Amino acid sequence: MHIARLEQIIDKASLPDQVKKELKHELCVTERRAYIGLAAARIAHDSNNALTGVLGNSNIAECKLLAGAPAGEILPFLKEITKSVDGLAQMNHSVLSLIKREKCELTRGYLNEIVEESKSQIEQITSVEGNRNYPIVYQLKSKKAVNMYKISLFEALENFVKNAKEAQAQAGLIDIPIAVRTFDAKYSRMHKNQYSIVNPGHYSVLSVEDKGIGMTQEIIDRLKKNPALFTTKGNNGNGLGMVSVLCAVREHHSYLGLETAENKGTTWSIYIPILRKS
Ligand SMILES: Nc1ncnc2c1ncn2[C@@H]1O[C@H](COP(=O)(O)OP(=O)(O)OP(=O)(O)O)[C@@H](O)[C@H]1O
Ligand SMILES: [Mg+2]
Repeated sequence: MHIARLEQIIDKASLPDQVKKELKHELCVTERRAYIGLAAARIAHDSNNALTGVLGNSNIAECKLLAGAPAGEILPFLKEITKSVDGLAQMNHSVLSLIKREKCELTRGYLNEIVEESKSQIEQITSVEGNRNYPIVYQLKSKKAVNMYKISLFEALENFVKNAKEAQAQAGLIDIPIAVRTFDAKYSRMHKNQYSIVNPGHYSVLSVEDKGIGMTQEIIDRLKKNPALFTTKGNNGNGLGMVSVLCAVREHHSYLGLETAENKGTTWSIYIPILRKS
C-alpha cells in the first residue's frame, strides 16, 4: 500500500498523538529502507557495467603506456576511468546518506542554520571546471524555530542545489531563500502547488529556485507516482536525489512545494511547521 495512504489511516485512527507520531516515524524508516534496497539493486547492476568499462580502459591505457604512446593518447582512457568511478562514488554517496540518517536525532533549530552550514558544500556542488561558479543568492533573514533532522535537511538542500545546477546549461542564478508563510483554510484550498496541498498553519520555508529547463507535466506526474530511480539525465543521473528529499519531507511532517514552467525554471520548497514558542 502507498505510504501516503498509510499515513492517512494513521491520522484517522483513534490513537494518542504520541503513538501516531511514532507510527509515522516507523513508516519513514520502512520507506527509506525500501529505497535503500532498490538503490542497492541498481548499484549492483550498474557497478558491473562501470567496472567492465574501468577494466577495458585500464587495459588499453596500460598497453599504450608499455608501447611508449604519448600522454595525449593515454589520457582519454584515464578520463573514462575517472568518469565511471565518479558515477559509482555518487551512487554510493546517495545510499550511504540514506543509511546515515538512521542515527539522526530530532533537534530544535532554524532552517537558516541548515543553509549557513551547507554553504561550502553548496559552493562545491555549483563550481565547475575553471572555477566558474553558479552565482548563489542567499536570503536568510527570516528566523523561526522548527523541529528538524539536520542531516536529512542537508541532504535535501544539496539535492535541490544539484538539480538546480543541472537544469541550467549556462551558469545561471540559483536563489536560496528562507521565508515564513501562513496559510489560512481558504488560502490553502485555493493555493495551487504543483506537488502537494499545504494544510493551514505557520511554516518556515526553505526554497531553491533556478531559471533552468523546468519540468513537463509528464515528469511531475512520474515524480509524484514514484521518484525512486527516475531520471531524465541518462547516465548522468541515478534518480536518487528526490528520494532523499521525499524522505526528509515525510520525516518532518512537512510539505513539498513545486512551482515549475518549461524553459522558465523551477522552485522546490520544503514547508516545515513552525514551533509555537519560536
Ligand atoms: N530543478 C529541476 N529542474 C528540472 N528538472 C528537475 C529539477 N529537479 C528535479 N528534476 C527532474 O526530476 C528528476 C529526478 O530528480 P532526482 O534528483 O531524483 O534524480 P537525478 O537528478 O536525475 O539523479 P541524481 O540526483 O540521483 O543524481 C530529474 O532527472 C529531472 O528530470
Ligand atoms: Mg538530482
